[in-house]
Amino acid sequence: MQRKVTKAIFPVAGLGTRFLPATKSVPKEIMTLVDRPLIQYAIDEARAAGIKEFIFVTSRGKGALEDYFDHAPQLETELEKKGKTELLNVLQDTNMESGAVAYVRQHKAKGLGHAVWCARRLIGDEPVAVLLPDDVIDADTPCLQQMVEAYEETGGNVVAAMEVPDEKTSAYGILDVASDMGNMVSVKGMVEKPAPGTSPSNLAVIGRYILTPQVLENLNDMETGAGGEIQLTDAIAKEISASDNVYGFRFRGQRFDCGSKAGFLQATVAFGLARPDLRDELGLYLQELMASRQAAQ
Ligand code: G1P
Repeated sequence: MQRKVTKAIFPVAGLGTRFLPATKSVPKEIMTLVDRPLIQYAIDEARAAGIKEFIFVTSRGKGALEDYFDHAPQLETELEKKGKTELLNVLQDTNMESGAVAYVRQHKAKGLGHAVWCARRLIGDEPVAVLLPDDVIDADTPCLQQMVEAYEETGGNVVAAMEVPDEKTSAYGILDVASDMGNMVSVKGMVEKPAPGTSPSNLAVIGRYILTPQVLENLNDMETGAGGEIQLTDAIAKEISASDNVYGFRFRGQRFDCGSKAGFLQATVAFGLARPDLRDELGLYLQELMASRQAAQ
């Protein structure tokens, strides 16, 4: 039996420069996908996977994100008075248990590995999940839940993985596959953002991880890697040589890269079309838009 994963780290310290000027005053994680902030999708996924403690690695200017997790009693009373039960439920579904949320500051932007390391004292000697909220995954069984199930079988470190085209490998952590068992692959190496033409495979790491305490320990070395940053990929790769216990997990679901504008827009359309209250109006609009574009060509 593996030790249960009950803690998750959400690295949210990034500046979000790709979304300027909006991110001058709004943290990227608060930007809305339909009507929920990006971070809410990651929280919901973590809760579904049994996570009880939520650790946010933040930075200067993320106050709105911290406020988002406060309860809103005044608003709740108002909605209750007006009999707006549906909205009240929407709001209450986002309430977090007191003490379940913790914030740690990353004082310097030294990379993803460093951000995760900043949370080390709150993790201690336990396995931990890491969720990068930019990666939004639409799935029948939430991605992290799929991974927890896989982890319960294998133990070790489990990273979400997905095939990407050749020209995209240099944007990801890439797995060097030892043996391929379908959903699971055992890994003999990992490279962060390999130079074009040098990638060991097309299997990219997507922002969901289940990590052993050793990975956080490896981060103590503070070695810099790709882009001059302390990379989580390198700390995981160290575990391959030390304990040979790293697995890639091909999740079932569709991933949207909400760290890019095109990906954010695609996710907005896809999640909008999946919503019963928006489906018809949005679908019709898209059909008309496509038809008029075709007619104009
Ligand atoms: C990070 C990780 C990378 C991973 C990617 C997934 O990169 O460093 O290994 O493949 O997330 O989204 P970033 O997108 O922050 O540059």
